[in-house]
Amino acid sequence: MESVPLVPPYIESLRPYEAGRTIESVRKQYGLDRIAKLGSNENPLGASPKAVEAMTNALGGLNFYPNGGLHLREVLAREYDVKVENVIAGSGSEGIMSNIIRAFLCDDDEVLTTEAAFIGFQVLAKSRGVKYRTVPYADWHYDLPALAAQINNHTKIIYLANPNNPTGTIFTRQQFEEFYRHVPERVLIILDEAYFEYAKDNPRYPDSMHYRYDNVITLRTFSKIYGLAGVRIGYGFAHEELIRNLLKVKLPFEPSTPAQAAGIGALADKEFLHRSLELNARGLRYLTEGLQGLGLTVVPSQANFVMTLLGTEQEACRIFEDLLSQGVVVRPLKAFGLPNCLRISTGTDEDNRLCIDAWRRSHGASAGAGRAG
Ligand SMILES: Cc1ncc(COP(=O)(O)O)c(C=O)c1O
Repeated sequence: MESVPLVPPYIESLRPYEAGRTIESVRKQYGLDRIAKLGSNENPLGASPKAVEAMTNALGGLNFYPNGGLHLREVLAREYDVKVENVIAGSGSEGIMSNIIRAFLCDDDEVLTTEAAFIGFQVLAKSRGVKYRTVPYADWHYDLPALAAQINNHTKIIYLANPNNPTGTIFTRQQFEEFYRHVPERVLIILDEAYFEYAKDNPRYPDSMHYRYDNVITLRTFSKIYGLAGVRIGYGFAHEELIRNLLKVKLPFEPSTPAQAAGIGALADKEFLHRSLELNARGLRYLTEGLQGLGLTVVPSQANFVMTLLGTEQEACRIFEDLLSQGVVVRPLKAFGLPNCLRISTGTDEDNRLCIDAWRRSHGASAGAGRAG
């Protein structure tokens, strides 16, 4: 009897998503008290207090099934002045991304995006077995003209993250508007705005809600600035026809009742948002200047992290391990497709100081080794 493969080749060749290191695992490995967790673009202030309060209040109803996100969708529809039929809520924006891929991609469809795109999207899109095409970055920015030139009859989804992870860069209103003129209506654009709140005050930033094009799906999340990454709650906006199809494939009861409550509470927490933005702006400045002070190239960021370039993959690995041994967790970007690069999230002021101090020691060690050699 001929043996049947357990999974299709495009699943066999995938690597499972590897999350950043946890505080506990680093503490245990190195016996350290203080860990600066700067590897996963989380909010170092914790969760929005209003979200925690709302979530706690929702615990009384845990015996009941959730309503599929309706309550949160209604609140978002009011907040953004759209119909509830234009809104979806899910288990993180990645949960919605996964449903988009399931609902709209098949057979000869192709996905088009930048090289070294957000790893979560790479994993999800490749798991569908369709052709995944990329164009190189232009100076660490999406090369929108090159992407437009690559659109063909099979292109079904274009994925754009703005600000982008892992580079932290944005494309501007003018660049997006020019790009959009070249995109046929049948092509869906996922505009992933997970870091929207960090960039929204930049007058050059194209808030996708401003456009409301019929083939653009906006994705946002409560994981970043609202500090709810552990809750898994995200949302999206799109034409009702797109949302109607997404509702067919989503798990009927996601997001959970406490997750919905947390999202609704977070939306009202303007004070927390403000505080988080201030801390982040300070952190970005400090990390950028600190790393540049060590002679490193840092890509200017509009998000809550910076990306830096090392000479070689070996150097990036060495710095990563050395920082880890000093209690500083950053993110190696080999899995994204950038083996020479590291990504550092902004932390508390103390985390940021720890990071630069530790880096200086690592750097001193390598400069010393270089001289000795
Ligand atoms: C660009 C981008 N999109 C989406 C996500 C995932 O967000 P969520 O936690 O809502 O699934 C991340 C998380 O790092 C991200 O960087």
